[in-house]
Amino acid sequence: MELRNQLESPLFTHFISDYTQPVGPDLLGRTEDFFRWQESRRETGLWPFSRSLVAAPEAECGVRNETGVARQGLNFGSQDYLSLSTHPEVIATAHRAIEQYGLHSAGSAMLGGNTTPSLMLEKALAEHLQMPHVALFSSGWGAGFGTIAGLVRADDHVVMDALSHQCLQQGAMAATQNVTRVPHLNNRAMRRKLQEIRAKDTRNGVLVVTEGLFSMDSDVPRLEELQAICHEYGATLLVDVAHDLGSLGPRGTGVLGAQGMLGKVDLVVGAFSKTFASNGGFLATRSPAVRQFVRTMGGPHIFSNALLPTQAAVVLEALRIVRSEEGEALRQKARANILALRGAFAERGIKCMGEPSNVVPVPVGDAKVARLASKLVFERGVFANLVEYPAVRVRESRFRMQVMSSHTEEQARHAAEVVHAAIEEARSLVNPQARPSRAARHEERLQAEV
Ligand SMILES: Cc1ncc(COP(=O)(O)O)c(C=O)c1O
Repeated sequence: MELRNQLESPLFTHFISDYTQPVGPDLLGRTEDFFRWQESRRETGLWPFSRSLVAAPEAECGVRNETGVARQGLNFGSQDYLSLSTHPEVIATAHRAIEQYGLHSAGSAMLGGNTTPSLMLEKALAEHLQMPHVALFSSGWGAGFGTIAGLVRADDHVVMDALSHQCLQQGAMAATQNVTRVPHLNNRAMRRKLQEIRAKDTRNGVLVVTEGLFSMDSDVPRLEELQAICHEYGATLLVDVAHDLGSLGPRGTGVLGAQGMLGKVDLVVGAFSKTFASNGGFLATRSPAVRQFVRTMGGPHIFSNALLPTQAAVVLEALRIVRSEEGEALRQKARANILALRGAFAERGIKCMGEPSNVVPVPVGDAKVARLASKLVFERGVFANLVEYPAVRVRESRFRMQVMSSHTEEQARHAAEVVHAAIEEARSLVNPQARPSRAARHEERLQAEV
């Protein structure tokens, strides 16, 4: 059946959230509804998730979807922001580390899993962040989750920016029921909430959680003001810098460096998986006691095997590059690509969300249009991740394009052209009566003139 005849079926109208609360005594059997729905999306090319790369995450690469269909094309879906995962010196470092330390960390960080490169990395990161005490985790998820779950107890409070990453949300919910979400980037609402909490409770801790760069919206908080508000109410601020550290700011110091806040925020957590060519994450703090407490009390550090020695060595080398002139050049190259991509969308009447960063959110809105457009974009050889509810609000589906230093501006412009055309085509399929957008009319006129 043609897809346009199925626009009112669950294929288009349901979201993952329709299946997250299955009921019934059969824990295994009750997964079937979700699976059937997911299969129907897979079979029709409308399931854009869990794709695999057939080679390194370079600007052009082969991608295979979950049904095995492969395409060669432009990769705007990898978070290798400075393209360090294929940098010759980073690769050489990995080879040397394997030779010297073997493959495995062979223990949790508490039980012999630390290695010479991991100790060196802790020191180097501490210097980079101007926070003297660093604890490593084997994933960015573990760092966010483990830091919150390690510090916060049932009677404490966590107040989070409503769009905080799931590792932060789940860490908070695992620690206490006193979790509140304040509207995104709204420092006034944060102040009101802290005031309200402190009016009733001065005995327990309050943790405020935000991110350096929000990865679905590409926007940033005003950290100096937020930190001051936290201190006014005896609260502790935690900032997750997973997406901005290394890729933004002077010498790759991220939003903290750009806002003059290096060493001035209570707690910093982050991930190596966006810019530092490896999995892994960290907590940075000014307090040796906090470091030791979280290492021991935060589950992922003590009960999960440590970062591999190769990973630690790779991150260390990536950090060296990030801080060097070469790193600056890579950031500038990425920025030129980012501006080219955003500019090409703007010419077509699409205003990308947020501020220029390696994350370029391209708003689509309607979920049906976005699903169809995502299928078309893949078929036409551009890999851009679709983000839909519940990761973002229902009518705020979007493409999250991720730009790397290894892209060219030409590739960025071409990708924008393909994505824009797919959105227009999907819109006309979903709503044939709709007047073509101003941008589509503009393009038609241009084509007619040629
Ligand atoms: C803000 C934030 N924190 C933590 C993580 C988790 O990092 P990792 O994928 O390295 O575990 C992510 C990953 O997407 C993220 O965006």
